[in-house]
Amino acid sequence: MQTELSRKLGVEHAVFGFTPFPAVAAAISRAGGFGVLGAVRYTAPGDLERDLDWIDAHIGGLPYGLDVVMPARKVEGVTEADVEAMIPEAHRRFVRETLAKYGVPELAEGEAAGWRITGWMEQVARSQLDVAFGHPIRLLANALGSPPADVVARAHERGVLVAALAGSARHARKHRDAGIDVVVAQGYEAGGHTGEIATMVLTPEVVEAVAPLPVLAAGGIGSGQQAAAALALGAQGVWLGSVWLTTKEADLHSPALTRKLLAAGSGDTVRSRALTGKPARQLRTEWTDAWDDPAGPGALPMPLQGLLVAEAVSRIQKYEVDALLGTPVGQIVGRMNSERSVQAVFDDLTRGFERAVDRVNRIAGRSGQ
Ligand SMILES: Cc1cc2nc3c(=O)[nH]c(=O)nc-3n(C[C@H](O)[C@H](O)[C@H](O)COP(=O)(O)O)c2cc1C
Repeated sequence: MQTELSRKLGVEHAVFGFTPFPAVAAAISRAGGFGVLGAVRYTAPGDLERDLDWIDAHIGGLPYGLDVVMPARKVEGVTEADVEAMIPEAHRRFVRETLAKYGVPELAEGEAAGWRITGWMEQVARSQLDVAFGHPIRLLANALGSPPADVVARAHERGVLVAALAGSARHARKHRDAGIDVVVAQGYEAGGHTGEIATMVLTPEVVEAVAPLPVLAAGGIGSGQQAAAALALGAQGVWLGSVWLTTKEADLHSPALTRKLLAAGSGDTVRSRALTGKPARQLRTEWTDAWDDPAGPGALPMPLQGLLVAEAVSRIQKYEVDALLGTPVGQIVGRMNSERSVQAVFDDLTRGFERAVDRVNRIAGRSGQ
């Protein structure tokens, strides 16, 4: 699966893998793809440094990238405490009552309240970049809009390509105008924050809108057939996130969550504001139902909702409270039915891709050519 972009980056397959797990990112690159580590969870720069060191030691010089969540709009001088103070008491009560209803135990005294969403604050994302530019990353991706001009310039000075996710052709044009090198067209089916346009419709729209910039198709891709379809739509590669969650190298810390993912069908996700305040596709649970219920207080806007639920989400995960336990994941979860190594996912992808291309060639009367 070679395209102009995969050749430029020196990878065997134009398969880009987003993952929060360093071991998965390294395995993706070792399997011939391009691993991209999600940085949003790293709120202490020392942790990111440690994990990028680990990747450098285990990736054998192969290329990889980093994904940050840098908001397009800059809010000056606002601290996490300021944001906390904006959370209404009624919402805090709703969290307490919901957790009590399901008997979710408290964290132990002094136990870290888990994932703080401060990785979304620009100053945190900037400190992640200071760390990342000390490592041989080849691509910097941004989840929420185009990164600021000085960040794009800094990346380009180091020969690092800049990618940005887009849910519409309008977003994609903004990225092009901001000097972005690669647009990730992410459809409605995708896990995580998504827009409302399906990958099948979005990909060719974005390809046309930003040509000749390379476009990666994301959302709902888990097989070689789907990758072949994306390339047929004009993409220069595919960007996969969900499919790695049930790989052997992934570290979800929760056997119950892995079991839920393996059992889920493609209709078991929902695009909900429950986790972050912005619509994000995730497993549908009684937790997402509670936030999406018009009788409840409803989710707060980003970043308030993320801060509000951070501790609750940690408790649900730690105690594996089945009815509430979820994760961002896309509709492709319906095809994630066994725990496989990253290499096995790649073997299936590349074989499926060849079969799909052969099939189309046969249909077009080109067999044997
Ligand atoms: C668990 C999970 C977390 C994600 N977090 C981020 C993130 O922090 N930054 C980002 O750019 N995309 C994030 N995404 C979206 C992925 O980058 C990717 O676009 C998406 O997973 C592709 O669709 P798929 O889930 O159908 O493969 C996340 C996806 C998942 C499943």
